[in-house]
Amino acid sequence: MYIKTCAYVHGSASLFFSTVFLPANLMIQGMWRSPAAPLSLPARIALVAVLALLTARPADAWRPWPSLQAKPNSSDALFGASKKYEGSSEFVRLKYHMGPVLTSNITVHVIWYGTWQRTQKAIILDFISSISAAASSVRRPSVAGWWSIVRTYSDQTDRNVSGTVLLGKQFDDLHYSHGKSLTRLSVQSVIKTAVTARRWPLPVDYSGGIYLVLTSDDVYVQDFCKNVCGFHYFTFPSIVGSVLPYAWIGNSNKLCPGTCAYPFAVPEYIPGLKPVRPPNGDAAVDGMVSVIAHEIAELASDPLANAWFAGDEPSSPVEIADLCEGIYGTGGGGSYPGQMLVGKDGATYNMNGLRRRFLVQWVWNHLVSYCSGPNALDHQ
Ligand SMILES: *[C@@H]1O[C@H](CO)[C@@H](O)[C@H](O)[C@H]1NC(C)=O
Ligand SMILES: *[C@@H]1O[C@H](CO)[C@@H](O)[C@H](O)[C@H]1NC(C)=O
Ligand SMILES: *[C@@H]1O[C@H](CO)[C@@H](O)[C@H](O)[C@H]1NC(C)=O
Repeated sequence: MYIKTCAYVHGSASLFFSTVFLPANLMIQGMWRSPAAPLSLPARIALVAVLALLTARPADAWRPWPSLQAKPNSSDALFGASKKYEGSSEFVRLKYHMGPVLTSNITVHVIWYGTWQRTQKAIILDFISSISAAASSVRRPSVAGWWSIVRTYSDQTDRNVSGTVLLGKQFDDLHYSHGKSLTRLSVQSVIKTAVTARRWPLPVDYSGGIYLVLTSDDVYVQDFCKNVCGFHYFTFPSIVGSVLPYAWIGNSNKLCPGTCAYPFAVPEYIPGLKPVRPPNGDAAVDGMVSVIAHEIAELASDPLANAWFAGDEPSSPVEIADLCEGIYGTGGGGSYPGQMLVGKDGATYNMNGLRRRFLVQWVWNHLVSYCSGPNALDHQ
């Protein structure tokens, strides 16, 4: 979204169902991970039914923002997300506001701003390439299975979000063309630099082109870590010369891994919470993948900030990924990410892609009105 999560932390809390999820989640977690004795078939059916019921409610989106630290007591920080929504019982009302969604083949053009390692780029590029990888080439649960939820968003013409997401061109801004501290608007200037470069400029792609500005870990962007890990919007003709949907996502390694790469890193103000092992060995970049996924899902369903969002304020919309931030599996909510998968190597993930595994947050499924993902237990 545009001024992301700022509003959703402070203003839009009333959009969420008040559901204190944590104790129930922990119970399910215990039941699922340590079955003392094999369950009988009727018991299993009952368990699946209970899990399906739990999934079939809006869950509380959560990220360990530093504002939670202001709470006097760390257990408040841990349970704060649930408390925040106390007293609100309004159902999530995601609405279609008549604008376009990305129905043509989507092409993701990437701007690497600053210093990036080849191994870091490979993780992100493999993720983008996995979004529309053929079902036959990737095991379930897959990234493409996650994208199939984004595809259920359609526009006035009854055309859906495209099922084809291609990796486009890449541009290396190795020399920090606009410095190491960017504002929201100067991110657009970075795009201008890339599309007007004398050598290998990015194409100005009006047919499903989206632009990702990815900043290395020594770059600060306005509001980074305070209330955003990434945002999306569209460029202004006055800056870039055309209207292009774009997103910025930062590498939080040096600035705030506990916030933006949670749960691969945890904030210091929550003692006792253990980070999980990232699937590709780079907590900050593995954490970025989920934010990139978040922004691409919202770019596709709300590219001009006038299509799919909840809330009455177009300048602070709550979009399809905002509703499910921090939820990676069944039962997720509050600081509990939900049921995830753990590989033989101890890495935590929730979906498979080309060559790699990823941990990607769920998105809002408007057909059933809850967050869903390919690893939902009731789909298996
Ligand atoms: C933190 O909160 C818990 C539960 O409300 C309470 O038992 C504990 O005494 C509090 N700790 C501090 C340092 O205030
Ligand atoms: C869109 O992508 C598909 C592959 O999924 C390809 O066959 C088709 O030609 C593309 N369409 C355009 C207009 O590029
Ligand atoms: C397209 O969107 C409609 C309306 O949301 C949905 O019912 C349908 O399943 C979607 N099609 C695909 C391929 O996702």
